[in-house]
Amino acid sequence: MEGTIHLFAPAKVNLVLRVLDRRPDGYHHLWSFMQTVGLEDEVRLRLRPDSHELRVSCDDATLPIDGRNLVVRAVALVRKAACLHDQSPGIEIHLVKRIPVSAGLGGGSSDAAATILGLNRLLRLGWSASDMARVGQALGSDIPFFFFAPSAVVQGRGEEVTPVTLTGKRWVVLVHPGFPIETRWAYERLSEARTSVPTLSDAHDRLVRQAALSWEDVIPLMENDFEPWLTPAHPVLREIKEELLAQGAEAALLSGSGATVFGIFRDQSSAMRAQASAGRIPGRRAYAVRSEARPAASQSGPPQPLSVG
Ligand code: C5P
Repeated sequence: MEGTIHLFAPAKVNLVLRVLDRRPDGYHHLWSFMQTVGLEDEVRLRLRPDSHELRVSCDDATLPIDGRNLVVRAVALVRKAACLHDQSPGIEIHLVKRIPVSAGLGGGSSDAAATILGLNRLLRLGWSASDMARVGQALGSDIPFFFFAPSAVVQGRGEEVTPVTLTGKRWVVLVHPGFPIETRWAYERLSEARTSVPTLSDAHDRLVRQAALSWEDVIPLMENDFEPWLTPAHPVLREIKEELLAQGAEAALLSGSGATVFGIFRDQSSAMRAQASAGRIPGRRAYAVRSEARPAASQSGPPQPLSVG
């Protein structure tokens, strides 16, 4: 069995992130509106029929490429779920990292999802999006979403994904303050600090039920339950949010458990201005990207986005 496949693995932002009650397994129930954006890693996969080895390389030398990397763990899970074990062909993976790490943008999860998707095609496993999501959820709560991108409401621990249609286009400015936030730490801080669990409104329910949503439907509901609990430890998050709003963002919010803050802009020129302004501050990285990852391309052609219908 031979073949190569190149995939773009897009970042996500959480347009809404409500963290609900803690579950008996230690995770929290979530209600999140997730959206992929046009900042992408690249995952290049190649089958090597002459060996059984897994070889991983990455253009970012600071990233571990051993069992700590979700891509490596995704390969092991696919081999196990497909019962390939020792018969598995060798696999070569090259990762091009553009999405900041531990940034609330789901970069590692998206890379893992791209790996599962790519192996599903190369090994002709015939898995549906739901099958792939089931394999991926064991690795991380954000992974199932990427099989139903670009827009979806995510519930449960992250495994209940309802794709939604978000019409219209926006520009998104992502501002990374230059330090990581560990997801587990953020959840602990939130659940220790808050005294009550938020409730969902009817408006959230309506978002899932509507056949098509516009940005005007979603923007008024944009909220992230981590924000009030992480901002005291990192006041720079509030500064970035205020700067994005001052630059004309329709809304600005922390993504996931941070530390990236993003702003929604109507047009490219105001997004570029906001990006240039944020990027001038030493240590910060800023990106102006489209609100959706690029459209599908053919398997044998140039890299394709991670989106499964
Ligand atoms: O699933 P993932 O590895 O991304 O989760 C990292 C950590 O975030 C978990 O160990 C848990 O502490 C927290 N988490 C949570 N509830 C979720 C998702 C993650 O408490 N729904």
